[in-house]
Amino acid sequence: MIEKKVVLSGIRATGSLHLGNYLGAMKYFVKLSKDEKNSCYFFIANLHTLTTRINPDDILRDLKEIVLTYISIGIDPESSVIFAQSSVPETSELNWLLACLTSVAELEKMPHFKEKKDMKEILHETVNVGLLTYPVLMAADILGPLANKVPVGEDQHPHVELARDLARRFNALYGETFPVPELLEGEAIRVPGLDGKGKMGKSNQNTIDLMDSPEEVLKKIGKAVTDTARVRKSDAGNPLNCGLYTLHQLLSSDGELMEVYAGCTSAQMGCVDCKKILVENINQLLAPIQVKRFELNEKGSKYALEVLHEGGKRARKKIVATVENVKEKMGVPLY
Ligand code: TRP
Repeated sequence: MIEKKVVLSGIRATGSLHLGNYLGAMKYFVKLSKDEKNSCYFFIANLHTLTTRINPDDILRDLKEIVLTYISIGIDPESSVIFAQSSVPETSELNWLLACLTSVAELEKMPHFKEKKDMKEILHETVNVGLLTYPVLMAADILGPLANKVPVGEDQHPHVELARDLARRFNALYGETFPVPELLEGEAIRVPGLDGKGKMGKSNQNTIDLMDSPEEVLKKIGKAVTDTARVRKSDAGNPLNCGLYTLHQLLSSDGELMEVYAGCTSAQMGCVDCKKILVENINQLLAPIQVKRFELNEKGSKYALEVLHEGGKRARKKIVATVENVKEKMGVPLY
């Protein structure tokens, strides 16, 4: 029997998930989970959520919602392991062990940290240590289950690079222990927001949520920013300057793509008609996910907790073994 590859990825527990999460990463999780050569671990990074102070009730609510969403998009909790970061205390222990192999300079130059730090300084808020060491915990998430492949969106690449460096560093110092995890880009792409200003993200309030009703989708796309240089229908537009065209590229058929491209650039098709096609395709994508999600309502949050409980046990078994081994190698075993 060939040994399976360990695939691991996580999502922070903040608010409802949106089309950007789905098209940028989660859709790819489903595909990986259906490949028998993979052993998949998908978790909810609820400890990472704490770097931004959030109400405990919200963290608990979002955690369960993400579990049910993972299942609704097609991840099977039997064949994949779905768990919460907080169910595996040994990951936090590994975080410390790896932190002692990481330099402050490496963390200070992480783009994610620099951006957050600048923003906090403008707002006169405290820059907490968790923001700085966030990537070390992420490396512990990855190295704990001995992950071979890590599918993440573009913004997380520097963090995965650190995990790769730490794996190599540890192996060189203490002997072969960790596989060097491969960064999987797959179909992970930057999904534009509806405001025409960059990435779709919860904090930018420019999202289509996976649970949005067809009416909401219609309303949101109706208001979405298109090519700003195209003022009237009789002006020719440039699809390459339009975030909605990128969404079309992700969701529409080749025929539809050609139709909207030609229609826009020749001023034959207006934004209203172009948006109609997009709305239809978004709703078609969301419908089965929402049906599944509503079905799960019956089993409710009790079911989400059961999944987390089982997944936590399975993930922990694997991670405990790694951490024990790491502690032995570093000369700090459990006596
Ligand atoms: N930082 C990731 C995000 O914000 C979530 C995450 C935490 C993660 N630990 C991870 C992703 C380990 C992949 C692997 O999306």
